[in-house]
Amino acid sequence: MAPIPLLPATLQDAQSVARLQAQSWRSTYRGMLPDDYLDHRVVDDRLEYWTTRLASFAPDRTLVLKAVSDGSMLGYVCVLLDEEPKWGARLDNLHVTPESKGTGIGYALFQAARDWIARVSPGTPMHLWCVEANRVARRFYDRQGGTIVESASRSFAGQPSVPEVRYWWPPLTGPATSAP
Ligand SMILES: CC(C)(COP(=O)(O)OP(=O)(O)OC[C@H]1O[C@@H](n2cnc3c(N)ncnc32)[C@H](O)[C@@H]1OP(=O)(O)O)[C@@H](O)C(=O)NCCC(=O)NCCS
Repeated sequence: MAPIPLLPATLQDAQSVARLQAQSWRSTYRGMLPDDYLDHRVVDDRLEYWTTRLASFAPDRTLVLKAVSDGSMLGYVCVLLDEEPKWGARLDNLHVTPESKGTGIGYALFQAARDWIARVSPGTPMHLWCVEANRVARRFYDRQGGTIVESASRSFAGQPSVPEVRYWWPPLTGPATSAP
């Protein structure tokens, strides 16, 4: 299969990114987040979030990359260089449509995120927070060689305390380092 094109997302993509995230959260977090939020509020909440974020991000400090096929967005990833920099760059979002899971899109986006970090900030590690009960994502990150470096209950999608784990990866290239 030909590699799926990965393109920078812009403010014009805010609605598509928000819809994809809402669809992915509904599919992934049912039972973990309140039904009322997932059924009625998640789309507007995500649209407000992405409209603000895509209107204001600095392209040299933030990456939002979309995977597009036949004009449809099938996945996206977001990386923030300045969120908890002691752990490196934060992979802040990685979502693939439920229908496209297992087709290599998540892997392509994940690798592109790591390549971007190595290019714009050589020697920088990568970290992310993953909901502890999100078994599918945790298996994916385990397979990508991530190390769980801490657990914490964090605010997530308006929920005050959701158990999460932090994954960490050393820089893609350069001297080996260990997690702080
Ligand atoms: C987690 C998620 C992004 C993974 O994306 P995906 O597109 O389903 O995953 P892929 O098809 O790329 O990868 C699946 C497997 O193939 C492997 N793979 C895919 N392409 C590959 C390639 N070219 N070379 C090597 N391995 C590859 C992956 O390592 C993975 O291995 P595994 O089956 O042993 O786990 C996806 O399940 C998702 O969107 N989940 C819902 C949202 C979510 O939970 N996001 C994370 C929030 S923290």
